[in-house]
Order: sequence, then structure tokens, then C-alpha cells
Amino acid sequence: MEALNIQGGKALRGELTVQGAKNSVLPLLAATLLGSGRSVIRNCPGLTDVTASLDILRHLGCSVETVGDTVAVDAGTLRACEIPEALMRAMRSSVIFLGPLLARLGMAGMCYPGGCELGPRPIDLHLEALRALGSEVSEGTDGLRCAAVCLRGSDIALSLPSVGATENAMLAATAAKGVTTIQNAAREPEIVQLQDFLRSMGADVRGAGTSVITVRGSGGRPLDGGEVTVMGDRIVAATYLSCAAAAGGEICLKGVDYCQLSPVSAILAEAGCLVRSKGDEITLKRDPALPLKAVRPVRTAPYPGFPTDAQAPVMASLCTARGATMFVENMFSSRYRHIDELRKMGADIRTEGRVAVVCGVERLHAAALEAHDLRGGAALAVAALGAEGESTIYGLRHIRRGYADLVRDLTALDAKVYLAEKE
Ligand code: EPZ
Repeated sequence: MEALNIQGGKALRGELTVQGAKNSVLPLLAATLLGSGRSVIRNCPGLTDVTASLDILRHLGCSVETVGDTVAVDAGTLRACEIPEALMRAMRSSVIFLGPLLARLGMAGMCYPGGCELGPRPIDLHLEALRALGSEVSEGTDGLRCAAVCLRGSDIALSLPSVGATENAMLAATAAKGVTTIQNAAREPEIVQLQDFLRSMGADVRGAGTSVITVRGSGGRPLDGGEVTVMGDRIVAATYLSCAAAAGGEICLKGVDYCQLSPVSAILAEAGCLVRSKGDEITLKRDPALPLKAVRPVRTAPYPGFPTDAQAPVMASLCTARGATMFVENMFSSRYRHIDELRKMGADIRTEGRVAVVCGVERLHAAALEAHDLRGGAALAVAALGAEGESTIYGLRHIRRGYADLVRDLTALDAKVYLAEKE
């Protein structure tokens, strides 16, 4: 199988433009189902989750064409409303297709999106929102079915600012008869981009980025096709900043809005990195001769708090910081699977439930490592770049869900990395 070899102990230098955001492009692709015409999505990242989404769109009857990083989807020929298990299994976040399928066809069916490496991934808030909009939802052993003769506007109050549930509610509400408000909506930048795309399709959506989103539904009339350019991936940017923090050196990342990264850059600056921004460029500089310092507790939270997706990469960069840093993972119940792998490199990390305390050690040493999930796998690359010796990372299929080409990007930052076939 393929493995990623990383030579540690070498400072990073260089610049790169960060790929399009996975957590924006996936809901955008689902939203194309709402249009009866052709939608164009630019700056699509080459991810396995994107490939899985395009396979689902084709299965549903849409025509999909890809030219470079531009994807065109014509949902005028949408005819199926069921997502088969094989395609669901390929991408658990396929639940985002429920809302648009209900909006266009009045029906949707899929098996349960399995739990993933982060622990159970309930969808109760998604289903509550769709029921509030007038959908019947039946949950059987073979999966779930939704049906709605006519979606009607409703006041939805989310008990948690769930990103996916906010997006599903927005998508379904665009076809409802009347006005929908979504209270306690998630405020992520990706939701603002989804609103922009929906407005380009002719939908009346406002308030994204705040806790209250209002959608004036079309009463069942399909939207037009729309256009959007996917924003830079703030989590990929946070990962690469963590790489430079771990290895030392100086890097410049382009194509990401600095404001979206401020909780992460504040932590890395407190650890002793020099972080600067100018427009859509972010630079991080760290003298490899000076060890990082431990920082105040890192508590993950909904946007604009510290992003849970950056927890593992930032933790990996602080394994050799002087002092102890406490992490509290408030978003997912099992998001510390990278810790055992970091321990193989000599990291000293103690966990108790949602709390992990990273006690800085002098240095990490290379090891053979296994990625168990997307961001935990990326964290192993962060640690390997700062470690002594050459590490090998297995389980690349997890990493490829969210990083289009880690070898290309790390090479652009002058890292010594290469793919190798291992028995
Ligand atoms: C999105 O997942 C992202 N994925 C995740 O990124 C990200 O970690 C997460 O938001 C939080 O920011 C995509 O956008 C494709 P949630 P999502 O619903 O929508 C609970 C990555 O690495 N919950 O905001 O699934 C849930 O269990 C991925 O790029 C319910 O209880 O996240 C979790 O504890 C990982 N019931 C919390 O809410 C529900 O119906 C936040 O989940 C839905 C969620």
C-alpha cells in the first residue's frame, strides 16, 4: 500500500495558494440540485469526498462535467431521490443531500450515515429541521425516508449550532411556501458562501454568518443555476501553519481570509511564532533554534471559536513546546485518536475524557504511524516534519478526503516528503 515518508528536522520555506475548502464545496455541490439549470463551481479541490459527491449527483440523474478545477452540474435532469448505500458509505456527509432532494422532488432516501472516526455522528437536528418544514421522516432499519407534499416555512430553533443541520435547513427552506427562520444557526464562513451561492441561484436567503438565518421560500418553483468560486480552506491553512510552527522556517499561504483563522493564529503566535497577514496572504515565521512555548488552554467551539478541525494539527505542533498545554475537545466525543500515534514519536500527552494535556518534550523521533481520521492524519505529518528522522504515515485514504495533494503542497514548502509503496 502507499505510504507517505517525511524527513523531519528541516525548516520549511516557500509559499503556496491553499486549495478550495472541503467544507464549503460539499454543501455547494448538494445545493446545485436546487437549480433546474446549469451551475458552475470554480476552485474545486481534488478530494475523494468531492469525487464521491459528483458520483452521487450523477447517480441522481444530473449531468456533471469537470474541466480542471471547475465543475459544472446541470440538475435539470434530476430524476432519482435515493442515495444507495455504497455511495453513502463513501462519504458520511452525504446527509446534506436530504434537504435539496426534498426541495426539488418532495422525496429523499438514504441509509444512515455511519458513525465515523470521530465517534457517533447523529443527524437528529437535521431530521427535526426537515420535520419542522413539513417533511414526514420515517426511520427504519434499512435507512431513512423523507417525504413532503409541500414544504412550508417554519421557525426552526437548533439546540446546537450544527453546521450540517443549518445547511440542510437552508437548502430545504428555499423551496418552502413562506418564510423560514433558523435560530442558533451555525456561523461558519462556509455557510456564508452557501448563502451567496443560493442567492446567485435566485433564492432569498439572508443572515448567514449570524445566529439567525431567514429564507423566503419559492413555494416549490425550482431555482436557476448559479455560480460560485470556492473559498480557500481555512483548516488546510491551519494545518500548514502548524507544519511551519513544528518544523520552523518561514512560509506564506495565499488565498485564505486571515480573519477566518484568527483563533488558530493567536495560539501559534502565543507559542512564539511570528504571524502576519496582508490581504489574503498569511505568513508564519519561527526560528527552529528557539523552542515553542506552551499556551493557554485550547477549547474547541463553534465558529468563531477555535475550530475542532484544527485541534489535532495544532496539538501536534505543541508536542515539543516548553511547558504543558491543555486541550478541551468540546465538539466531538472521539477526536483524540492521533494521540496514541504521537506517543509513538515520544510525545507526552495525558487524556481524561474530553481533556488532553500536552507536556512538552525535548524532541520527537520518527516512527511508523497510522492515520485514523482526516485531521488526525494531517497532524501526524505536522509532527513528523518537526521530528528527528524519517517517519512513515499509513492510512492516506483518510488524508485524501481533505487534502488534495499533501506531497505537492509540502514540497512547495521545501519539505522532504515522498510517497512510497510499502508491503
Ligand atoms: C461539519 O461537520 C464539518 N464537516 C466538520 O469537518 C466539522 O468538524 C464540523 O462541522 C464542526 O465544525 C463538513 O462541513 C462536511 P456539526 P458536521 O453538525 O456538520 C452534533 C472535517 O474534518 N450533532 O456542526 O457533521 C455532532 O455530533 C470535518 O473537515 C448532533 O448532535 O458537524 C457534533 O458533536 C470533521 N446532531 C456537533 O453537533 C445533529 O443532528 C457539531 O456537529 C448534528 C450534529
